[in-house]
Amino acid sequence: MATRASAAAPAARRYRFITQEGAHTIGLARCTNFRAHIYNDTDIDAAFAKTRQSGCPSTSGAGDNNLAPLDLQTPTVFENNYYKNLLSKKGLLHSDQELFNGGATDALVQSYVGCQSTFFADFVTGMIKMGDITPLTGSNGQIRKNCRRVN
Ligand code: HEM
Repeated sequence: MATRASAAAPAARRYRFITQEGAHTIGLARCTNFRAHIYNDTDIDAAFAKTRQSGCPSTSGAGDNNLAPLDLQTPTVFENNYYKNLLSKKGLLHSDQELFNGGATDALVQSYVGCQSTFFADFVTGMIKMGDITPLTGSNGQIRKNCRRVN
């Protein structure tokens, strides 16, 4: 979760990140992972924030595991609604809305909204590239307990 499409990353890698985050067109997130966004951030539609607040109490520890869909429109269908939500400031995670926030990545989000087949084609390319990543195995690496630091 600490990973982010950093401005310092090469453009191609940054854009692949945005494409793969489109996987959030399906699935759910826990309250603990979107609480700060719906209560503290300003880059969120007010009515949408209110709706999500009703299922996610502001106090840490209360309802932490309550779930909400990452794609509010069609959480079980793989298409480009995830990106459409971002245009209306209805991204569930802080990191979702970062993709469309007045920065360099806005244009790519808009292109996926305008052309679903481009998103599909780029997603396929990105998944294949992710499959080519060779993770360290055995004693060569470790599975982090906290993704922000080595164990
Ligand atoms: C900046 C990159 C990303 C961040 C910060 C991020 C963050 C998250 C978070 C916080 C959740 C909710 C988990 C929970 O509340 O338990 C989630 C769910 C999910 N993520 Fe990501 N993610 C990223 C990239 C990706 C990528 C690259 C993929 C796949 C190619 C992906 C696929 C999914 C899916 C399918 C779910 C739903 C899981 C479920 O419903 O059980 N995410 N992500």
